Amino acid sequence: MADTGKRIYIFDTTLRDGEQSPGVSLNIQEKLEIARQLARLGVDVIEAGFPIASPGDFEAVRAVAREVEGPVIAGLARINERDIDRAWEALQEAQKPRIHVFIATSDIHLKYKLRMSRQEVLEAVRRGVARAKGYCQDIEFSPEDAVRSDLDFLCQVLATAIEAGATVLNIPDTVGYATPEEFGRLISQIRQRVPGIDKVRISVHCHNDLGLAVANSLAAIENGALQVEGAINGIGERAGNAALEEVIMALYTRRDYYGCRTGIVTEEIYRTSKLVSSLTGMPVQYNKAIVGKNAFTHEAGIHQDGVLKERTTYEIMNPAMIGLVQNNIFLGKHSGRHALRSRLEELGFKLTEAELDKAFARFKELADRKKEISDRDLEAIVEHEVKRI
Ligand code: KIV
Ligand code: ZN
Repeated sequence: MADTGKRIYIFDTTLRDGEQSPGVSLNIQEKLEIARQLARLGVDVIEAGFPIASPGDFEAVRAVAREVEGPVIAGLARINERDIDRAWEALQEAQKPRIHVFIATSDIHLKYKLRMSRQEVLEAVRRGVARAKGYCQDIEFSPEDAVRSDLDFLCQVLATAIEAGATVLNIPDTVGYATPEEFGRLISQIRQRVPGIDKVRISVHCHNDLGLAVANSLAAIENGALQVEGAINGIGERAGNAALEEVIMALYTRRDYYGCRTGIVTEEIYRTSKLVSSLTGMPVQYNKAIVGKNAFTHEAGIHQDGVLKERTTYEIMNPAMIGLVQNNIFLGKHSGRHALRSRLEELGFKLTEAELDKAFARFKELADRKKEISDRDLEAIVEHEVKRI
């Protein structure tokens, strides 16, 4: 991505919040595979899981911490000793570890979920952040449900986290309630009111309950946030997290407006999206921005004519920018299993031998009827007939 403008850090939580999508469960090998691809994509931080949540989550975070180089590896912990100690146990072999601690700050969460007073929350933040800081330098703190929290109290909590050693303050819109203008204003108020805020990086973590997660994240960037959290394909709790590929391509395509850059290798976006979809079993809606099947497909005759004359008439992004390139190996009835496997891998599909057998048989049947098998045909074979996504 162009090397100009303010640097925005991309925090990927596909393996943690993304995996909290109903029905999704990734095993350690799958998590490692996604983490390696995220490293190739160039994300700055991979949140590999929530180590206290289950032995499987613990092992997955430990494996990613040991084996994936490049990005910071983060593990989530509630702000209590057991969670923090367990998170550190999982993270300690990472080259660049980060403990991410959180506690809710809205009155509704304090009253019904935590049953704690504001004073108790402040004490827990001071103690918890300090404990995490005893383990590693890089500490992220999140006041869960920040958007519905009292602003004075929220600022007090954030100031306490800074004093105790937090290096990143993440502002979550946990229930996807904010509007872009409101969320941007919240970030600006935090910057004006929290003592010591200039020493830390402000991050945002937006959920998509009203379909505003990406817009809210971008509004936060306009107001000084430097880190954006989200998941590939926008997966996550309920309606999901901010779709990282959308945030990234909005920043890139409208760099004239945002004046920002990221460290992302955008050409890896499509492959990453496919891999996440294939391993989580969560299909990407056809008209999804950036990575949907139809995102670069032109149907209307006038549009087709325009694009054939000059691509930019109806395309604001070059599909090659996200790694959607025309296949130059012709796949047809004479192609072998090897060619099929390698093209499927380029498209982000990692198949078992049995799945490849099935895909190959289906491919041959289709190739008898159709001269050239397109990437879309291959995706349909894998998604609908082999993996049944
Ligand atoms: O949505 C949320 O508030 C979270 C926090 C743990 C950051 O996922
Ligand atoms: Zn979340």
